[in-house]
Amino acid sequence: MNLLADQHLNEPLLDHREGQLFLTEAFKVILEEVLCKGTDVNEKVCEWREPEELATLLDLELREYGEQQHQLLQRVRDVAKYSVKTNHPRFFNQLFAGVDYHALTGRFLTEALNTSQYTYEVAPVFVLMEDEVLSKLRSLVGWAQGDGIFCPGGTMSNMYAMNLARYRAFPEVKLKGQWALPRLAVFTSQESHYSVMKAAAFQGIGTENVFKVNVDDRGCMITDDLSEKIELAKSQGAVPFLVHATSGTTVQGAFDPLEPIADICDRQGLWMHVDAAWGGSVLFSKEHRHLMRGVERWESGACSGIQLLECNFDLLKRCHSADATYLFQQDKFYDMSLDTGDKSIQCGRKVDCLKLWLMWKAVGSQGLEERVDRAFAHTRYLVEKMMKREGFQLIGKVSHCFIKCILTYSSLIFISPFVNVCFWFIPPSLRGKENSPDYQDRLSKVAPVIKERMIKQGTMMVGYQPLGGRVNFFRMIVISPQLSYQDMTFFLDEIERLGNNL
Ligand SMILES: Cc1ncc(COP(=O)(O)O)c(C=O)c1O
Repeated sequence: MNLLADQHLNEPLLDHREGQLFLTEAFKVILEEVLCKGTDVNEKVCEWREPEELATLLDLELREYGEQQHQLLQRVRDVAKYSVKTNHPRFFNQLFAGVDYHALTGRFLTEALNTSQYTYEVAPVFVLMEDEVLSKLRSLVGWAQGDGIFCPGGTMSNMYAMNLARYRAFPEVKLKGQWALPRLAVFTSQESHYSVMKAAAFQGIGTENVFKVNVDDRGCMITDDLSEKIELAKSQGAVPFLVHATSGTTVQGAFDPLEPIADICDRQGLWMHVDAAWGGSVLFSKEHRHLMRGVERWESGACSGIQLLECNFDLLKRCHSADATYLFQQDKFYDMSLDTGDKSIQCGRKVDCLKLWLMWKAVGSQGLEERVDRAFAHTRYLVEKMMKREGFQLIGKVSHCFIKCILTYSSLIFISPFVNVCFWFIPPSLRGKENSPDYQDRLSKVAPVIKERMIKQGTMMVGYQPLGGRVNFFRMIVISPQLSYQDMTFFLDEIERLGNNL
């Protein structure tokens, strides 16, 4: 018998004291580098390095033997240094930005507890908490009851909706698969998120069976065209089953008209899903929730990474359950309906409710409403300033309509329904040249060059894209609770500084 080996196996492999010391030091780095410097306007948003240089700097290779604590702390510092600071006030690149300290605490706590959401026995707190958050969100939608689940993102929520809609129409699909089904048809706007196409491909429906409905100038679904596309699909022998509407499209921030879409779905017996992954926050605001008028008529909705369902017929469970006996034993000593894991398509499911719950507890519904209203107010300010500067050309409907306006300017009204501000920057060399044959081509090259310059200098980050027939334009997202008027002014000045000589 090897006594030494036995003794070794009798000791814990981890040194908790040393581990906790490391964590304490790492937390200091996180606080200093990510949260203090990362949110400081005088610091860079990003430290651009070419990939080869970055790989060398990070010394990525994994070796046979472990490193010393001081070396590992340097690793932590490097990761913080070379990562993009998405909580920097000048990060406008994505549909997320900023930091909320309570939500962050929730995320740290979730990671520290390292459990899975599937059963009450391993996640008693989070099973009850998820239920509370879902029920509060449902009440915002206007439902007294229903079902729901936290999903890992908007794409997954949309995939869930498609699967549920198909299951409701053809419950036999779960057993028999595609063999039992006719050709199915999904309807969504031209500007909906690409996850609809992924879902159709993933679920065997086929991307050719996603009928793209035309949109108006603002990117909202044209319901007459929806009716026509439904008839078109039927004339081709397909069976319509799902209309995928959007509240807050990814690029333009458009809200599809839910009431008329719901009328069509009622008449045709179709499932109405609303992808509110981006725009769902307006439900918190008394002033802006009208953008989702008719929301209570949806069958399902994606609010960020949360799938909400109107029906309370256990559809999620029936559609997805696999009744694993090692997890969902039927002879448990507590109420087994608390083992919600079989509603999910995953087995282990990360706890996502705590960050939202803790933030909601901290600021209340009133605080969340204030954040939404503030983002709209900042957007209004930005648009106002932009319209006064020569080189900025907004994308969106400019009209004389007085129904919902952001800004009245020179008798024109610019309608920006949400916090996406889409615009071209026209450098001095292109101004007044709209009719020249190479104008669009030259304009399309402006945003990529400005973007390269801002990233290499680390001053800010904002996204650009072409859309439909429009060449590359910027999409500025005004969402972070940290934003100030100064950041808006900086943004405009910086675009001019980076692009004036193009
Ligand atoms: C409208 C909309 N739906 C769905 C998604 C996908 O969300 P996720 O990235 O969380 O999968 C996005 C992402 O931008 C979106 O804008």
